[in-house]
Amino acid sequence: MNFLILGVESSCDETGVALVRQGKGAALPVLLAHALHSQIAMHQAYGGVVPELASRDHIRRVLPLARAVLAEAALPLNAVDLVAFTRGPGLAGALLVGAGVACALAAALNVPVLGIHHLEGHLLSPFLSADPPEFPFVALLVSGGHTQLMRVDGVGAYALLGETIDDAAGEAFDKSAKLMGLPYPGGPVLAQLAEQGDPAAFKLPRPLLHSGDLFAGLKTAVLTQAKKLGDALPAHKADLAASTQAAIVEVLVKKSLKALAQTGLRRLVVAGGVGANRQLRAMLDAACAERGVRVHYPELQLCTDNGAMIAMAAAMRVQVGVAFPDRRYEFDVRPRWPLQAISPALAA
Ligand code: KG4
Ligand code: ZN
Repeated sequence: MNFLILGVESSCDETGVALVRQGKGAALPVLLAHALHSQIAMHQAYGGVVPELASRDHIRRVLPLARAVLAEAALPLNAVDLVAFTRGPGLAGALLVGAGVACALAAALNVPVLGIHHLEGHLLSPFLSADPPEFPFVALLVSGGHTQLMRVDGVGAYALLGETIDDAAGEAFDKSAKLMGLPYPGGPVLAQLAEQGDPAAFKLPRPLLHSGDLFAGLKTAVLTQAKKLGDALPAHKADLAASTQAAIVEVLVKKSLKALAQTGLRRLVVAGGVGANRQLRAMLDAACAERGVRVHYPELQLCTDNGAMIAMAAAMRVQVGVAFPDRRYEFDVRPRWPLQAISPALAA
């Protein structure tokens, strides 16, 4: 089979387009090409994502990126058999750009379209890595808006575990970074600064490990610490960054270990933007190695938003028969869209 899927991601501040070829039989789909445009430079002046600017930039980028992936794969547009797009969750205007372009392309080609849940894209992105996982596994999904621990038994079979944290790890990185006066995008900037700091320099809250709102307490503690330092903050910023990162990472590692113990599973999959964090990877690798648990990550460049994970999720859903793409091109988007809406296991 040579079924080709074009995937379009435009839920936030990255435009991503990718081309994936369906696997033969039970073989995993293969990534043929992907291209990405990050809007970081554009939003930096405003200290965060400006939704209207994001939408307009997606409009400018999406077709040139589509042309680039087709050129890289040396395939014509009419070789595409299915167009997948991020249907939600995300910024409404930004999602509408991807949905509109995907449906227009599919209509012109007379091929089906499929709207994909952004978090399912993240969740399945490690299947594109050189070391893909096998079902079942525990998934630690850590993105800008979500921190969820899930039991994953197959494509579309996701069950939330009790260890899920209400607050988002990415947001904790971003907000703490902002409180320290670091520029957008906070997470990676804080992580980089943390490399030169002492993680034990400041005592930030850990006792809340048992509760769901740890990161709320952490942000308050970071703010208090930053205020206390006052003019001395610049000199101690790397230490505060390292201490903050250590607190977030410790919680994520402990909660993941609990989820593994609770399920008895010996495989952990990490996905979402915060999965790019080096400290998190190092601590998880060490803790899991000690316990004989295998850990899988997406390729570093596919941790944050991209089109490959959207095309991949579409390919895997179609392959196992949990999605039925069709030729209805009257699209809608779902800016708020809980993962349970697409998973019978979660809805139960
Ligand atoms: O998955 P993602 O690209 O977008 C969402 O679906 O939200 O995740 C973005 C989040 C942001 O909060 C960003 O600061 C964080 O991931 N992030 C990081 C790192 N790279 C991205 N956080 C910590 N360390 C990193 N290296
Ligand atoms: Zn994302």
